[in-house]
Amino acid sequence: MTPDHVSILTRDFYRTMISVVDELMAMLDRWTFETRTHSCRVTLLSLQIGESLGLAPKELFRLGAGSLLHDIGKIRIPQEILMKPGPLSPEEWRVMKMHPQLGCEILERFPPLRVAGDLVVQHQERWDGSGYPNGLKKEDICLNARIFAVADSFDAMTNQRSYNTVRQIDDAILELLHESGSLYDPHVVRSFISFAHPPDDNEIMDNMERFLEEVFPPERFIQTFLS
Ligand SMILES: [Fe+2]
Repeated sequence: MTPDHVSILTRDFYRTMISVVDELMAMLDRWTFETRTHSCRVTLLSLQIGESLGLAPKELFRLGAGSLLHDIGKIRIPQEILMKPGPLSPEEWRVMKMHPQLGCEILERFPPLRVAGDLVVQHQERWDGSGYPNGLKKEDICLNARIFAVADSFDAMTNQRSYNTVRQIDDAILELLHESGSLYDPHVVRSFISFAHPPDDNEIMDNMERFLEEVFPPERFIQTFLS
């Protein structure tokens, strides 16, 4: 095989991966009636934390892919449960809590995305063991899932539209500090609050393909799969 063949295969592999991520996100949007902006914002926040902690390119790839697709398992959860207006019954909760494992199983079918399985299966775990599905604690939770937990909570707290943004950021930081060492890894919280700022939705949604290429720079992709 010539170097030209290798570069064509690499480019096609890369483009396929971007298309698969885009399609999986679209499937999730259609099934849950949510927009993808939440996943995109959380991904940007996760990657900022990952970079500030000095993660290697391969880890950043895993972190980006896992953050974008963290809830993909919800496409296997019945809509009656996902959309239920009132509180879930114990049995419905049992089903709902399967979404991290189901997500991991979906990614298993797409080789370039398997590396994100750890984050996806652990994205609802919490530092003190109060999360699910396995009640993992502290460093038994992979670092990427601990980073994701901080980014996800910050995004949820800073996206209540009726509320002043500056106030939201201050309140969210206080809340993260308050739960640091219980729900969240203190080291991750410390790193995050030094730069915490919510990403801008318009920038993300202007061009999804460009956004995905920023999340998965070709060099990072190559270092993950071809080195
Ligand atoms: Fe989730």
